[in-house]
Amino acid sequence: MSSVTHPIPTKLKAGNGLPTPHIGPDIDAYKKAHALTTGEHRDSFWEKAAKETLYWHRPFSTVLTGGFEHGDTAWFQEGGLNACYNCVDRWAIQNPDKTAIIYEADEPGHHQEISYGELLREVCKVANVLKNMGVKKGDVVSIYLPMTWHAVVAFLAVARLGAVHSVIFAGFSAESLRDRVIDGKSTVIITSDEGKRGGKTIATKNIVDAALKECPDVNNVLVLQRTGNPVNMQQGRDYWWHEETAKVVPYCAPEIVSSEDPLFILYTSGSTGKPKGVVHTTGGYLLGAALTVKYVFDVHENDRYACMADVGWITGHTYIVYGPLLNGVSTTVFESTPVYPNPSRYWDVVQKHKLTQFYTAPTAIRLLRRLGKEHLQGYDLSSLRVIGSVGEPINPEAWDWYNEEVGKKECAVVDTYWQTETGSIIISPMPGAIPCKPGSATFPFWGVEPVILDPVTGHLLEGNDVEGVLAVKQPWPSMARTVFGDHARFLDTYLKPYPGYYFTGDGAGRDHEGYIFIKGRVDDVINVSGHRLSTAEIESALILHSGVAEAAVVGVQDELTGQSISAWVTMKPEFKGSVDENLVKELTLQVRKVIGPFAAPKSLYVVGDLPKTRSGKIMRRIIRKIVAGEGDQLGDLSTLGDPAVVDDIKDKFAKGQ
Ligand code: PRX
Repeated sequence: MSSVTHPIPTKLKAGNGLPTPHIGPDIDAYKKAHALTTGEHRDSFWEKAAKETLYWHRPFSTVLTGGFEHGDTAWFQEGGLNACYNCVDRWAIQNPDKTAIIYEADEPGHHQEISYGELLREVCKVANVLKNMGVKKGDVVSIYLPMTWHAVVAFLAVARLGAVHSVIFAGFSAESLRDRVIDGKSTVIITSDEGKRGGKTIATKNIVDAALKECPDVNNVLVLQRTGNPVNMQQGRDYWWHEETAKVVPYCAPEIVSSEDPLFILYTSGSTGKPKGVVHTTGGYLLGAALTVKYVFDVHENDRYACMADVGWITGHTYIVYGPLLNGVSTTVFESTPVYPNPSRYWDVVQKHKLTQFYTAPTAIRLLRRLGKEHLQGYDLSSLRVIGSVGEPINPEAWDWYNEEVGKKECAVVDTYWQTETGSIIISPMPGAIPCKPGSATFPFWGVEPVILDPVTGHLLEGNDVEGVLAVKQPWPSMARTVFGDHARFLDTYLKPYPGYYFTGDGAGRDHEGYIFIKGRVDDVINVSGHRLSTAEIESALILHSGVAEAAVVGVQDELTGQSISAWVTMKPEFKGSVDENLVKELTLQVRKVIGPFAAPKSLYVVGDLPKTRSGKIMRRIIRKIVAGEGDQLGDLSTLGDPAVVDDIKDKFAKGQ
């Protein structure tokens, strides 16, 4: 844990000509304010915040009912509202010309600003098109779109109808897309002809076509023209976005939904092979998204905010779409990569669009740090005030580089901890109030009471200088409500492991001053470049290969991507092919095909056998130790069936094949 403490940076001090931070000037201000959001103050805090932050078409009278025991929390339940109205109409009425979206296309030099007025018209048109396709309140609409600004339109059009969006990251394979469309019971998909990223073209519609071969219930596909290259269009099923939106009026009344009606489903990986459809509801989720953008990024009215994530993940949902738009500021949709056409792309974007907040992942920071600071030279980054990090623990070296080279030691660096399931940030510095320590997400957000528990006994570890598993003591509005179609799984994963608490699945420590340091997952989840993958999911993909008998997948520390995937397989006796480089390639391709390119193992080894207990259970712990370079500290091997297997694995690992 880092012992260096960075004071509040100059740009976050009041009286410097920049907006005065919402919370400051010191940690006492934060502590006082936080104390008024928990315990006996909890409900009155959330009641006031919900009324001030969101527009309710129908008021609520109850703040919270239910709890962790049954997983039946309900927030603001009598309330009625519409997510899209809150994100768009409110600002379009006040100031239709204000920029809602800054779109930076993949092709350098191609960018566009979309005003709130224009966004409202485009959203209404798409909502009317969807309505004509039969979409109504409560229906699940799948979205498989690259990072164009139209993706934001698609989200909001679905929400405007009170329908539920299920966004599937456009890097997922046809098979993954198929499974998610079927699980969500969608009958409509919104997609594009192709996608562009880093100068490459992605065959989006082809992937959708392949997926839909096995989704008989999908009867309408709305296709955005992104590149204009010819694609297959199935008559009676596939419709062009530009043609359909030209037929309808640009206004559509928002459908008022109950606060607890679902807003979206988002699939994420857990410790089993089957992805979970995490369900977020409307009122509570929107409140968390809005408040965290306001306080964690210290957003003010004229800010031009950018989150460089993909809308296909929760970070994009909350911090590209909902959070910034709920605050009425300008949000950025960045289609490219940090290194296209060169490693100055981010800084070119910051300078060109005069961005005030910038939010990315440690993996991008590490990559840019490695490529050298000369790529920042000559770029004017002086508009920035708050720079954020999310998705994985940020190592102090990367934190320092970000602070020095990007923030010029004048910006706040916010290391924000949260998850798909938490809906919005739950632990993070308040930029004008909390001095930072590199590698620490510092202190909880309003209303959140994190605890550290003994992983074995579940006992609360009180005080400072403790380490254990991270859980949360009280419900908060933006937490997930269930796993789509499987509430038992929701309870088993999050609420039952440590009764009375929400369990995050992460390990964490609190240092001598109460700063929280996140240590990473304690379950079978691997975090590769901020992408969350389950070992079981990758193993299942490998086993689908006809020659593979068994597979074991473990995470390895990686300088650039945080963790990388190391896969170990055995072949069936009847497998007649040769065990060579081609087989390794074929098996890697298998994972790309079943899950998506981002899930491909970095190393893959074919071995004679895997280490197992006498009862046949694969001992991944042993492989994990060997690939971590700790093959000489394997500990107790008394339960191991055949000790010779370990030598074979060590040998293969040493040879790198
Ligand atoms: O392990 C934690 C890590 O990412 C996991 C959540 O992944 P996902 O649901 O995909 O959401 C990613 C974006 C919020 C967590 O369980 N994680 C996220 N943020 C941090 C982090 N680990 C350390 N520090 C963070 N700031």
